[in-house]
Amino acid sequence: MKKLEEYVRSIPDFPEEGIVFRDVTTVLQNKDSLKMSIDQMQALLDGVDFDVIVGPESRGFIFGVPIAYNLNKAFVPVRKKGKLPCETIEMEYALEYGTATIEMHKDAIQPGQKVAIVDDLIATGGTIEAITKLVESLGGEVVKIIFLMELQGLKGREKLKGYDVDAVIQYE
Ligand code: PRP
Ligand code: HPA
Repeated sequence: MKKLEEYVRSIPDFPEEGIVFRDVTTVLQNKDSLKMSIDQMQALLDGVDFDVIVGPESRGFIFGVPIAYNLNKAFVPVRKKGKLPCETIEMEYALEYGTATIEMHKDAIQPGQKVAIVDDLIATGGTIEAITKLVESLGGEVVKIIFLMELQGLKGREKLKGYDVDAVIQYE
């Protein structure tokens, strides 16, 4: 059977010149690699004591919900600005290309809850750094951060110093 990383499609110069885009859709559209990706990400949470998975729109939802379901945990969505209907807190952050603002509902995390953050990919780390700030401002404790893919060259981990960070697939 093919290895999981062989299912990731790499697209040069998307969405801008110079960026090699690691495309997760080819992992999702094959039943074997879809299962491997969920199983191998979930294994990174083995032995971790946590209450809730927090995942960002949109690709964080794809992986966060099945893992939360499998482990009998709750899931809290972090959304792009303007989508959540109730009272929110927000954070602006820089992406590899451009900026964005994300939001969470104020009542989504209870003080003292242990949070695992799940996303498909870490590039600059800006998205997840913003999420750690949102979670902590609500009184949550980030105990683990996991990704399917890490783009090491963009040094996202440096933004997440002090956190327990793991990824299934590494790119230089
Ligand atoms: C992508 C990706 C991560 C983030 C990584 O999401 O899914 O969430 O960027 O970049 P960073 O480490 O530099 O912050 P994007 O904001 O493009 O949204 P999408 O999942 O809706 O495509
Ligand atoms: N691939 C997929 N998503 C991304 C990337 C990438 O290279 N960089 C930022 N988000």
